Amino acid sequence: MRQIMVLNSKGGCGKSTLATNLASWYAGQDKKVALVDYDPQGSSMEWLSRRTEDRPAIAGVPAWEDGLKHLPRSADVAIFDAPARTHGRELTDLLRTVETVIVPVLPSTIDIEASARFLEELGGVPRVQRKEVKVGVVANRVREYTLIFDELNEYLDTLRLPYLASLREAQNYIRAYSRGLGIFELPEYLAWPDWEQWQPLLDWLNSRRSRS
Ligand SMILES: Nc1ncnc2c1ncn2[C@@H]1O[C@H](COP(=O)(O)OP(=O)(O)OP(=O)(O)O)[C@@H](O)[C@H]1O
Ligand SMILES: [Mg+2]
Repeated sequence: MRQIMVLNSKGGCGKSTLATNLASWYAGQDKKVALVDYDPQGSSMEWLSRRTEDRPAIAGVPAWEDGLKHLPRSADVAIFDAPARTHGRELTDLLRTVETVIVPVLPSTIDIEASARFLEELGGVPRVQRKEVKVGVVANRVREYTLIFDELNEYLDTLRLPYLASLREAQNYIRAYSRGLGIFELPEYLAWPDWEQWQPLLDWLNSRRSRS
């Protein structure tokens, strides 16, 4: 089972947004998808409850309650939505089985600094050190031609980690979430700019580079 986690100890950077969109993308590729929510806020499970039956099915696993007991063994892909403020032992435990981690970072000084500290800690987790877990970063809620986006770009470029995509700030994400959809399930005329921005991230996920 392919296991992908969206993770950053910084709150509000887009973990649940990326996790739900990834789940819906894989579901649209005829994969059996499980969406595993480790956050007691339950945003991913809330999104799933809004999803209608005519859409490709996704199995919800509220892992903050009882771990992976209800993870369907037949799933092809499991997408993990992590909680904010994950550190230390909890972080190491969370990374026990996943092979790929995506870290969203927002264009704000507070977020860049908090994410820098988090990435430092993440790099020290033994499975990450041994490259059993592959980590990539994504800029999220980006507004082009802003100084702070330049700053975020510069920061992400200096990391010795793949900088996979920059995703614009768009109402499409909010619109899709409220309907239990991913942006890939919105009409092309609305969502094509977002589809294009996701492509390099999806290519990486489909390649050996994101796997151990
Ligand atoms: N690219 C985007 N464009 C517009 N809004 C976005 C985008 N990404 C995330 N958001 C919005 O930002 C807010 C935070 O996103 P989200 O809940 O996904 O973050 P999170 O990291 O899961 O937060 P938490 O740490 O609380 O779990 C939400 O209101 C979401 O709709
Ligand atoms: Mg969340």
